[in-house]
Amino acid sequence: MIIAVDGPSAAGKGTLSRRLAAHFGLVHLDTGALYRAVALAVLRAKGDPGDPDTCIAAAKALDRETLDDPEIRSERTAAAASKLAPIPEVRAVLLSYQRNFATRPPGEAKGAVLDGRDIGTVVCPDADVKLFVTASAEARAARRLKELRERGIEAISSHVLQDMKERDARDQARAVAPMVPAQDAIVLDTTDLDANAAFEKALEMIASRDVA
Ligand code: DC
Repeated sequence: MIIAVDGPSAAGKGTLSRRLAAHFGLVHLDTGALYRAVALAVLRAKGDPGDPDTCIAAAKALDRETLDDPEIRSERTAAAASKLAPIPEVRAVLLSYQRNFATRPPGEAKGAVLDGRDIGTVVCPDADVKLFVTASAEARAARRLKELRERGIEAISSHVLQDMKERDARDQARAVAPMVPAQDAIVLDTTDLDANAAFEKALEMIASRDVA
């Protein structure tokens, strides 16, 4: 069983995906972490996340340890990830990793939940369930601000909202694998839902499709 979860940042994809994976006995892959890890490697080497050659080399040399580096969660890394994400060769390198994970999930798992931007459209177009999780930019910025403050990072609300809108625009406008709901995706708007309510709603939606 493959569940594809796409949508913009801070819409609740990650939490929902982890809970769905636990519920159905699947393994979870946060595909944004792959783009972030490449971005962090580029930044650490003082490279330019807009330069294709630098980013392609970093994607090819990506090591698993970078995926666990807490620094991949920083806003700086996130911004760099969305700058290198449009580079087709970077996407191609990461695509094979993601497809491998989906078709041959690690361990005894009987399937996988992948979350990202293009899972239902490009990475796993034959996924059994496709969810597109979204929320208003204001609600997402408020969540991100709370998360940053909980990590002890001071941030200005209007800047977080602005960064988020810029990132959404880049993710939606790129020529290769832009962030759009797959035609057969179920759209879940979490603006007024907490994590529990979003999970319950997703289970209801999945049950109504009769795939689980
Ligand atoms: O989900 P995230 O915020 O961790 O993703 C970081 C960036 O990576 C995002 O701005 C776009 C890119 N990304 C992508 O292009 N395709 C994916 N499947 C996942 C992430």
